[in-house]
Amino acid sequence: MTNATTAVTNPAEQLLFEMSVEGRRCLRLPELDVPKVDVKTALKGAKLRNQPAKLPELSELDVVRHFKNLADKNFSVDKNFYPLGSCTMKYNPKINVTLLSKPGFTKAHPHLPEADIQGHIELMYNLEGYLREISGLPAVTLQPAAGAHGEMTGIMVIQAFFRDKGEGKTRTEVIIPDSAHGTNPATAALAGFKTVTLKSNADGGCDLEALKAMVGPQTAAMMITNPTTLGLIEPNMLQIAEILHAAGAKLYMDGANMNAIQGVVRPGDYGVDVMHFNLHKTYSVPHGSGGPGAGPIAVREDLEPYLPTPRPIKKPDGTFTLEFKRPKTIGKVRSFFGNYGALVMAYIYMSQLGREGVRRNAEYAVLAANYIRAKLRGHYHIQNDKTCAHEVVFTDAKQDAESHLHAIDVAKRLIDYGIHPMTIYFPQANVTGGHGAMMVEPTETESKQTLDFFIDVMKKIAAECKENPDLLKNAPHNMPVVRLDEVRATTQPQLYCPMCMA
Ligand SMILES: Cc1ncc(COP(=O)(O)O)c(C=O)c1O
Repeated sequence: MTNATTAVTNPAEQLLFEMSVEGRRCLRLPELDVPKVDVKTALKGAKLRNQPAKLPELSELDVVRHFKNLADKNFSVDKNFYPLGSCTMKYNPKINVTLLSKPGFTKAHPHLPEADIQGHIELMYNLEGYLREISGLPAVTLQPAAGAHGEMTGIMVIQAFFRDKGEGKTRTEVIIPDSAHGTNPATAALAGFKTVTLKSNADGGCDLEALKAMVGPQTAAMMITNPTTLGLIEPNMLQIAEILHAAGAKLYMDGANMNAIQGVVRPGDYGVDVMHFNLHKTYSVPHGSGGPGAGPIAVREDLEPYLPTPRPIKKPDGTFTLEFKRPKTIGKVRSFFGNYGALVMAYIYMSQLGREGVRRNAEYAVLAANYIRAKLRGHYHIQNDKTCAHEVVFTDAKQDAESHLHAIDVAKRLIDYGIHPMTIYFPQANVTGGHGAMMVEPTETESKQTLDFFIDVMKKIAAECKENPDLLKNAPHNMPVVRLDEVRATTQPQLYCPMCMA
């Protein structure tokens, strides 16, 4: 890669194949002092290459520099502000990993006898207790490995409940508001339900009259994301639950956005029957690059018999056991106990926070989002300009009208200021008045100074939109690669290296 200011190529920034020099080695082996063996004969010719693989030939320093340079290009919450909406990119305290690295955790094997893993079962039992308390629901399973996996588990539990009641064949529909997270309809469809979309009203909430008209004996459940993907708290949860329960249906809440309401209000108290948590969002389990995460679910009493196995149980003598024999269980959804390391990190985090800390997190997360909303009002259009939850959705309506610039241009320009782009084009245009969404989630871990820095940058970008639109159209400018053809990157991905195929 060529450096734009110096026009010379730094070898450490090239591809490994470009850096390769014939004959260069990381280490040289000593002369052979054992009898030579013909590999072809030894392996009986099976699956041997006709020619040696074309691997790059490099020194150790070449390799170290290459990967260090790549690693330094990585963006992380440890490096700078990461307001990626819907992802809750909060700072993850290092003590989580420090404690998880203790041999008691890293060397424990899931097949150890129960007597030897008493502490681990107790940890899972206690973590379930925290989640029971936060959800206001009496039973939890920690097994699902992600939010969407929790949704799937929850919907399968509801399905098993109705099958058991002899209503499996009649309850065929799941209602999903158009402000729900995309995994909600995907889950319901994957479980074999017909999904029915409920349109949001002008305030971004559920239209109760429309809901009443949709609900009937064919309804198995409604899956609602609360707070919604518009960053708003649904004000009518009690009425929604009443409408569903009157028809014998269940209310599922996508609780991936619990960072806004944890410790403040309990979903079980307003009629939710099943919910999932994203421990990798709300409870500081690192995420990005696909996990590993954890998506425990909490359920009401009548759904408890269907939860996956095993379940951690406290016996009357104070010891712990894993309960495998559960006749109505939906079975296993994950090997062993789920993503155990993720559970341990969430447990450490929650134990440190305590009841007050959990609540305070939600309050600060909501305060931070509303501070940004108030400070950027007038600079960017806000679709629903009222008190938001832990994230705020701006749109590109103003920039589009003024300079034909869009959410993607603002997001790319943010990179030039060292800030990770916010989530763009989500929620989708059908709930943002047809404009491109810019969803900002600051989280409670950011200081007022960082929020002010972000606000100043966003104001500066809004001014640049008017004064110098080209600056945005071509952004980012100070990255190793500038504006990419994103459509081509997703529709024509090149998943091989031509140099190694040559
Ligand atoms: C509201 C909401 N629901 C569900 C999910 C799915 O969670 P996961 O990516 O862990 O499957 C997410 C992911 O961020 C989310 O934001």
